[in-house]
Amino acid sequence: MDFERATALKGEIIVPGDKSISHRAVMFGALSRGTTEITNFLNGADCLSTIDCFRRLGIDIETKKDCIKIYGKGLHGLKKPEQILETGNSGTTTRLLSGILSAQPFESVLNGDASIQTRPMKRIILPLSDMGANIISLRNNDCAPLRITGTHLKGIHYHSPVASAQVKSAILLAGLYADGETSVTEPILSRNHSEIMLRYFGADVISEDTTVTIHPNPNLTGQKVNVPGDISSAAYFIVAALIVSGSEILIQNVGINSTRDGILRVCKAMGADITLENISSKNGESTADLLIRSTAALHGTTIAGDLIPTLIDELPILAVLACFAEGTTVIKDAQELKVKESNRIDLVVKNLSAMGAKITATDDGMVIEGGHPLHGAVIETRQDHRIAMSFAIAALAADGITTIKNFECVNVSYPSFYEDLAKLMQR
Ligand code: S3P
Repeated sequence: MDFERATALKGEIIVPGDKSISHRAVMFGALSRGTTEITNFLNGADCLSTIDCFRRLGIDIETKKDCIKIYGKGLHGLKKPEQILETGNSGTTTRLLSGILSAQPFESVLNGDASIQTRPMKRIILPLSDMGANIISLRNNDCAPLRITGTHLKGIHYHSPVASAQVKSAILLAGLYADGETSVTEPILSRNHSEIMLRYFGADVISEDTTVTIHPNPNLTGQKVNVPGDISSAAYFIVAALIVSGSEILIQNVGINSTRDGILRVCKAMGADITLENISSKNGESTADLLIRSTAALHGTTIAGDLIPTLIDELPILAVLACFAEGTTVIKDAQELKVKESNRIDLVVKNLSAMGAKITATDDGMVIEGGHPLHGAVIETRQDHRIAMSFAIAALAADGITTIKNFECVNVSYPSFYEDLAKLMQR
């Protein structure tokens, strides 16, 4: 797909539902008694993989546009799947489901696409095995496909070496079935949607600093979940409005949970004109409308430390933003970028260099010298949705034509990305 320079972006959009929250609503609904009704569900390929897996595990799920009904069967209601559970491109489905399957009285096999088959699973295999699970990486490389033989689990206190909500959530979900309490301590607090939603469904979950503790065997009850708009999807339009001069846009109903709002903090630190309006709360998650105006005088910043987990998925688009800021932007402590849907340090640096940016890869991030104009190039996405969308936005403020390979991979998290962008483009 080809993209080129845009004139001012104007108008209002509503970005689709949050991916992390959509996954969790399906999973927790399936493990609850009664019906869970999810509105503003993200109909992206990743969340559809979660629905597909739970159907194979015997859960009835009705889908009508972005309204989903889950007929939960309680903690012990899943049945042995007849086929392999296909998780597609979705790390969240693969890792969180592994936690649930570790405690089931049957064997199951999880597999996903080529990217999932290279992503590290040792980070969940180790703690879940400590709890008693039997998980085999079938190619003996600590990646999927995984064969999980469920068993009776024991509670543990796990000190995670990585700040990862997928690792934390996998352990908490296994902890629902353990014989005592289960705790996870992270080096830095990662997104806390599991904790918030498990409580909302009736679980006993206590959070204290970077430690979360769950008590086993709760009576989870089906709930109504209204999914906030995904700040990770809003991020592309936030940056687009900042770098395309004369822009002014309103993005409605965006989730601004403080474990996810790093992009807002960094943009403001760079001098961006962003206002939050209409702040409210939905099932324990804060939301706001974001008013963004293009800002000429952006300046470089350092993105590091505790900020990283709050914006980990936004680092590719923040690297694009840094190209339009005067001075140097340093991204560090972000080695996790190497094990996302692609190696995002590698791909961001390669593609931004091809567009004329002054950018250098480091071991745990990148350094960007802003203020050098970008020009069109052919963009390698390796089917990574966030790379495809980040470079579609870079193209809007670059000379010439930018061709993005395999652009259809945006369907993983944002099937209507192109339509929403078109809405904001002035003709
Ligand atoms: C997610 C957690 C993050 C994030 C991913 C979604 C989640 O991954 O990058 O897109 O829904 O829990 P990690 O847990 O690996 O950091």
